[in-house]
Parts: sequence; structure tokens; C-alpha cells
Amino acid sequence: MTEPLAALWAELEAVDYPALADLFADPDRLTRYATTLGLPGGAIRFDWSKTHLHPAAEAILVRIAEAQGFAEKRRQLIEGEPINNTEGRAAEHTAQRGVGSAASVVEAEALHARMEALVEAIHEGLFGEVRSLIHIGIGGSALGPALAIDALTRDGARVAVHVVSNIDGCALEAACRACDPATTMIAIASKTFTTTETMVNAASALDWLRAGGVEDPYGRVIALTAAPEKAVEWGVDDTRVLPFGESVGGRYSLWSSIGFPIAMALGFGGFAEFLAGAAAIDHHFVETPIESNLVVRAAFADLIYTQALGCQSRAVFAYDERLALFPDYLQQLEMESNGKSVTADGKPLGRPSAPVTWGGVGTDAQHAVFQLLHQGTHLIPVDFLAVKIPGHDLDPAHHQILLSNCFAQGAALMAGKASDDGARAYPGNRPSATMLADDLNPATLGALIAFHEHRTFVSAMMLGINPFDQFGVELGKAIAKQIDAGGGEGFDPSTEALLAAAGIGG
Ligand code: F6P
Repeated sequence: MTEPLAALWAELEAVDYPALADLFADPDRLTRYATTLGLPGGAIRFDWSKTHLHPAAEAILVRIAEAQGFAEKRRQLIEGEPINNTEGRAAEHTAQRGVGSAASVVEAEALHARMEALVEAIHEGLFGEVRSLIHIGIGGSALGPALAIDALTRDGARVAVHVVSNIDGCALEAACRACDPATTMIAIASKTFTTTETMVNAASALDWLRAGGVEDPYGRVIALTAAPEKAVEWGVDDTRVLPFGESVGGRYSLWSSIGFPIAMALGFGGFAEFLAGAAAIDHHFVETPIESNLVVRAAFADLIYTQALGCQSRAVFAYDERLALFPDYLQQLEMESNGKSVTADGKPLGRPSAPVTWGGVGTDAQHAVFQLLHQGTHLIPVDFLAVKIPGHDLDPAHHQILLSNCFAQGAALMAGKASDDGARAYPGNRPSATMLADDLNPATLGALIAFHEHRTFVSAMMLGINPFDQFGVELGKAIAKQIDAGGGEGFDPSTEALLAAAGIGG
């Protein structure tokens, strides 16, 4: 018989959470909560020892996982059953990396083979000289590719990729300024092939090619979509439409043909390494018992903070410029997946859902926002991301100072410092987790991303949320469309006055 959830959450709230420094009185704490995981591109150390995780809290979280049928839900996810119940479909991003139902893995491999052939044809010059790719997409069709390209191509790329997402024409203009129409191809990335921002940007990119003397602008376009018929209707030749399955969610789609720009920049081999790194985490997630599962451990710590200790946000700082876009990517993953007020069966959640994910880059953030983390009134768990091997050839002092600052922050947040002068006192007992990768390469980046996908999934399952829909984004889109269609009336007085002041709508 499963235990009642409300009572279990109440138990989690009632646990005594000793101060972090006191938790280290346990000589086994470090071995228990800091684990180095060997992965295809090098090891990553996942250190959760400076969080309030401890065996008594974990035991309750394990019982919540049982009550929520977590193991069965994980099986459903991996085996391609309709875990996205509100939309009646599966969530098969892991099949893209070879971990899923046999049929979905075979289908993903076939679609990847098609993508590989096109990438190689372009690299081999079948489309003439191609120096740049403007990748147009938004949300899940942009954030993952942008992160991967920024992280992995600082030393150069087979083709320079410019990711354009915003409808603000300044974004497309900047990309166009950096490219020559004669040597540029355009990728239109949209699962639905209807997203306003993407379709308007795509049309303007074609105008730019045309104005730049390209005779057949449509001949320079590749479509990445789960709606291939719409792309063909729009004018893309079907030989240049790279489809992916409807069961791959937008924010989980960078492993599918949405990853085309990654393959264009790195070569398909690099993209395959990216998939392999993610697959290694899939295997860890699926095959490791809950008690030593690193993904589950991270989600458990997240839940202690949101469900028992009242934290409303979680901060993520990349102590590596190459991972500067990681917090942006993570915001969509976590907030669009788990920012919900109802459970998967439509009942009020009755508990806090996802925290606000935010963050930045170290050491910059230390000189801007860390004051609040150290001495503010909020308790904000922090994640640090760092890489042992630097991404540059400058004086090693740069990297040494970067990493020592990263570790110093975690130590300072936890230890604090007493002072008779209140302004100079640090309360300490502020949690952090650190992920330290040996190297940053396609495989380790793939692993870090997959780790966070599954971490988000575990939190959702523990709360009973469906992380794979995002109905909350629809209302604003519908109202914007209504205004654009000339219906600028019938709103509240503030909105009507703003529309009138800007001279739009009505
Ligand atoms: O508005 C939210 C959203 O639907 C995201 O979930 C998605 O990643 C993004 O828009 C882009 O959608 P599409 O890939 O269909 O253009």
C-alpha cells in the first residue's frame, strides 16, 4: 500500500536539518555525497556534500518516490509510453541518443543518418562555399543549440553558426551583418513550423538573401521540424527538410534534427559524441539504484530546498565562459517543465512547484549578485559548474584564479564568518553543489545537459507534475495575435493606453 503523500511531505518538512558544517561531522559524508562519474569525454565530479541532504531526509524522499510510482514513471519515460498525459504522447528525447524503445531508437537513427548525409554534403561543397549558417528558432529550438555552439566552438568551427531567436529585428540584423549572403545558409528550426517569431525572422532572412543577390534563396534553406509538410508548404524542398518525431518535446529537442547547427559546426562526429555523453547519463539514471543515483540525489536536494526549507529560487553559476549560456538553457528546461500549479491529473498541486532558476557567470557574478547570496535574507541554493582544463592558452594564472574563486565561494557560503559587527557577519550554512568536469567537450556537455533533463524529470515525478506540456505560454501568444490582427480593444485600461501610446492595435 502506498503512503499518503501529504503526510510524507509533512514528514520531510519536520525533519531536523543540521547546519552544513555539522553534517561534516560524519566522516563518510564526502564519500557519500561527492561522486566522480567516468563518462565518455572525461569524468565529472558531482559534489552534493555541501547541501542539506542527509540520510533521514533521503529516506523520506525515497518513500515519496515510491508513493509517486517513480520507478514505473521512469520506465514509461524510457520505453516511450505516453508519460505526457495531457497531450497524450510520449517524451522520447532519450531515444535520440539510443536509449528508448527499439522502434523509436531505429527511427531516430534513420533521421540522424539523413541529417548526417546533408551535413556532409554541405561540408563537401555540394551547396557551393558555405561559411555561415543562420539558425533561426526560439525557445527549445534555439537555447540548446546556442549553448552547445557557444560552449564548443570557441576555437573555431567548420561553419560559423549564428543563432537568431528574438522577433526584435536587431537580432537578425546582427547575424546578417556578420555573414555574406553568397556563402550563408539558413536553418529554420521549429517543431511546429508556426511560431510567429521564427516564421517572421525566416521570411526576413530570405529577403536578405534575395537582396544580397542570391537567385534561389529557398535553395539555401534547411528546415528542422516535426511538421515537415508545413515546411514544404512554406517553400523548403523536401530533400532539405530534416524531420523529427512529435514525441520529442521542444526543450528536449537539441538531440534531434534541431541539433543540425551543432553538427554543422562540429562535424557529425562531434554531434555523435554529444549524443554519446548524454546516453551515458541516461544509462546511469536508468540503471543506478535510487540511493546512489546522482540525478535522483540532485533532485532530492532540490526538493528539500523547495518543499521543506521554503526556497523560491535556485542559482546556477558557470565558472567557465564557455558555459555562459547554461543558465539560460536551464531556465527554460526547469521553469517551462515544472512551473505548474496542477498535477498531471489536473488537481491543484497544493505545494510549491519549480523554483525560479537564475544565474550567471563566475567570477563576474561575485562582483554583482553574490552579496545577496552571502548576506541577504533569502536562502538560495547555488550550483557551481566548473571545468578543470581551461578553454584558452593564456597564462595558467587565469584558470587557477577562476577555479579557486569558484571553490572559495562554496566554502564561504557554507562556513560563513562570525563578527560582532552585524554588517560584517556572514551567517553561513548556505548550500551549494559543484559539478567539476575534467574537460569540456561534446560528450561532457551532452552529459551535463542530460543530467539536468533527468533532474527536472525526477522533481516533476516526485511532485506528480507533467513536465512535458507548457500550456502556460499560450494565453499571451493568443492575445498578441489578437492585437496584431487589429483587435486592440476590450483590454484593461492600462493595456489599452499602452497600445494607444505605441500606436499599435485597434
Ligand atoms: O512558446 C513556448 C514554445 O512552445 C516552447 O516550448 C518551444 O520550445 C518554443 O515555443 C518554440 O516552438 P517551435 O519549436 O514550435 O517553434
